[in-house]
Amino acid sequence: MLKLGIIGTNWITEQFIEAVLETKEWQLASVYSRTLTKAEDFAQKFTNDAECYTDLESFFKKGKFEVVYIASPNSLHFEQARAAILAGKHVIVEKPACSNPKEMREIIKLLRKNRGVYYFEAARHFHERNFKMLKQQIKEMDVIQGAELTYMKYSSRYDSFLAGNEPNVFSPRFSGGALQDLGVYLVYNAVSWFGVPQEVVYYPTKLHNGIDGKGTAILKYPNYQVNLNFGKTANSYLASEVYGLKETIVMDNAAELKKITLFDGQGSQRDLTQEVDKNPMLSEVQDFTSVLNDPTSLDSWQQMDDWLAVAVQVNRVMYDLRTSAHLYFDADSKYIQ
Ligand SMILES: NC(=O)c1ccc[n+]([C@@H]2O[C@H](COP(=O)([O-])OP(=O)(O)OC[C@H]3O[C@@H](n4cnc5c(N)ncnc54)[C@H](OP(=O)(O)O)[C@@H]3O)[C@@H](O)[C@H]2O)c1
Repeated sequence: MLKLGIIGTNWITEQFIEAVLETKEWQLASVYSRTLTKAEDFAQKFTNDAECYTDLESFFKKGKFEVVYIASPNSLHFEQARAAILAGKHVIVEKPACSNPKEMREIIKLLRKNRGVYYFEAARHFHERNFKMLKQQIKEMDVIQGAELTYMKYSSRYDSFLAGNEPNVFSPRFSGGALQDLGVYLVYNAVSWFGVPQEVVYYPTKLHNGIDGKGTAILKYPNYQVNLNFGKTANSYLASEVYGLKETIVMDNAAELKKITLFDGQGSQRDLTQEVDKNPMLSEVQDFTSVLNDPTSLDSWQQMDDWLAVAVQVNRVMYDLRTSAHLYFDADSKYIQ
């Protein structure tokens, strides 16, 4: 059984724990929260046996877990992952794993020094069957003429922002904003399906505190461009598309891939949809579980390295997009080019 420790007690951690428990290969061992009653109430939903901590140092030093799942505000991911690696714990950290390339480089350096520790960015859709199938499908296209990818969902936290508050997800202090929160999914799609773009530019709609509420990013490739539309202050019902010569792949939603159709441009269409899990985090959990169950094998290392290489590229593209729009975070003050 893999022993899990968690940081962050919001709904996403519940969904993650439900996924790990579904595999029957994990147990919840340790819970960290800033508030003891919150940690205890959270743990009780799943088990009577988990230890609870309110001090992060003790959590990493004494916690009886091997793997930590970090689902805290974005700006805290780096320091928490760093502390975990130094304590010899494997890390599954929510997207975006790092606020900028400087943090990502530090993580890579730490992983080199602490061989045996695994580190995964939890980009859930990247591990789903539909995502992998699309990667293969796009690879087989003779001609690619670009893509239009959309992911835009009104956030309930925007109500709070409009009421005069600054929720973490709309705060530069916490490395928030539309690009970091939802745009990251589409950057994963672009980098995984088309490779690293040659040039990128981001046109955000900024809110009064300077953070991006929504925006459009253009990723230039040698022979085409990929346009990303994402946001947290409006809802979009647009489908997403990848263009071949005559054929077009249509996705209902580029980040929540539930229905995928290939139109051949000559009157026929084919349903490419693969089985979709009820819990959207199950695929990533299954992938991480198979690696963590065999941590000393070379295949496991290679697999983690491959995923990490994509995470590093996504992190760089995200930073280039963000800085193209003069969007800076508190976490960037430590940034040295
Ligand atoms: N994969 C997905 O589908 C998905 C979906 C949603 C979110 N996410 C990711 O999950 C992460 C958390 O997102 P969220 O919306 O749940 O964030 P959040 O509500 O702002 O914070 C998550 C947790 O962090 C702790 N926290 C909140 N504010 C804090 C502060 N100022 N200092 C220290 N700890 C604080 C809280 O736990 P305690 O009060 O118990 O300490 C809270 O439950 C983000 O990285 C986000 O991108 C992923």
